[in-house]
Amino acid sequence: MSADLSDLPPAPGRLPLLGHTVALLRDPQRFLASVSAQGGLVRLRLGPHRMVLVCDATLTQAVFADDRVFDKGGPYSDRVGEVVGEGLGTCPHSRHRRQRRLCQPAFHHTRLPAYVPAVTTAVREVSAPWKDGQVIDVKRTMMAITCQAVARTMFSARLPAETARQVTEDVSLVVNGLLRRLLTPRALSRVPTPGTPRYHRALTRLRRTVADVVAARRADPADHQDLLSGLLLAPDPDPGGDGPRPLTDREVTDQVITFFLAGTETLAGLLAWTLYELARHPGTQRRLHTDLAQGLPAGPPTAADREEPSLADRVVTETLRLHTPIWLLTRVLTTDADLGGTRLPAGTQLAISPYTHHWNPVHHPDPTAFDPGRWAGRRPDRTTYIPYGAGPRRCIGDRYTHLAATATLAALLTDWEISPVTERPARAVLGGAVVPRRLRLRVTAREQP
Ligand code: HEM
Repeated sequence: MSADLSDLPPAPGRLPLLGHTVALLRDPQRFLASVSAQGGLVRLRLGPHRMVLVCDATLTQAVFADDRVFDKGGPYSDRVGEVVGEGLGTCPHSRHRRQRRLCQPAFHHTRLPAYVPAVTTAVREVSAPWKDGQVIDVKRTMMAITCQAVARTMFSARLPAETARQVTEDVSLVVNGLLRRLLTPRALSRVPTPGTPRYHRALTRLRRTVADVVAARRADPADHQDLLSGLLLAPDPDPGGDGPRPLTDREVTDQVITFFLAGTETLAGLLAWTLYELARHPGTQRRLHTDLAQGLPAGPPTAADREEPSLADRVVTETLRLHTPIWLLTRVLTTDADLGGTRLPAGTQLAISPYTHHWNPVHHPDPTAFDPGRWAGRRPDRTTYIPYGAGPRRCIGDRYTHLAATATLAALLTDWEISPVTERPARAVLGGAVVPRRLRLRVTAREQP
């Protein structure tokens, strides 16, 4: 006999009104990892939202694979949709394939090596004013690097320093505002807080900045071989007909904001956690410095690299397992469906967290230890290593991320050594991504040969 929704066990630590929000905010990584002990499907309540967390690896893949039945949607996706309309990350299945086709060329592996100089320049500009022995605010610094890197590589836009600072701040305010709106119980959601006007101001400013970039490029017919050219110069798929039409400026703006939201905080979170782990593992950092002297690979991994990934690749792969920035993906059932013997009605909100898989000792022994060596001669298993999701909605920026992360490490570690300012482990905090809370690290200038 098949079970139904009410038979599923609840996640531990639930409070009246707030559901699991307090447990989640207290220690997001450990909480999400702990839920899988309850079963393959577990009930979760975040703020006013009731969801089913899919913890079983096979069921997770089934959800990823079928975006017709398990469509994009659910509370977080819906909140993001309020900001970016139906951009690539939030649009339903019915609109997804065309959008993905328009965006894909900018991420083709042949384009990626051309992005390295722009990433390196962004790193050098941000780190140029550093003094020997200075303590840096890591998250803020990495956001400054990733905003410039995404602007330059995806939109060929070199933002003036003040605009870049403002965009960085606005993206952070918007993603944090989105999280607050997701987790606030409905009864309290209309109560104005000091963050509400700040969120709206940041969103208006961000939209205006991006609309200016789009307008400037509309006036310029050249093909810059980047994401924005791909969106603006896409041929009309149905000239003179009633079918799909080229994207309007508003839709292009939505798409550009999608890429800023999806690509900056995630990448900055990954870089912040990578530097944190390298500061705590000086032996690994020294070996990276040695590799650098011999030249880190400047392009995406080749077939030979995939056989035996470089240390920089293994460091990034392991950081993405241990501290993966995306903590929750949501889907909504478009029809009644059976998932692992449980009948779920249409409209059920499903959630997947990479942490339930990445921190599972059955899949990754000693899961809370940072050990790039676990990837020596071994590639991650596609079902239990899911920092980028899987299936048709898998992250379009996966290879770009790996390239940008290794290029940033190469540029930073050539000039600087990174060390901790405290022995206390960093605590994770939720924003649009899981990032280390108030992480400070010391940068020491390296002697140049
Ligand atoms: C550490 C870095 C990153 C991580 C961990 C990450 C993770 C993810 C995940 C898990 C998804 C799937 C969401 C779902 O299935 O609901 C996704 C989608 C997406 N990501 Fe990333 N991402 C990263 C960096 C980037 C970058 C650098 C870009 C762009 C420059 C980007 C753009 C996107 C977009 C546009 C989507 C939506 C794809 C679609 O629905 O077709 N991401 N990302």
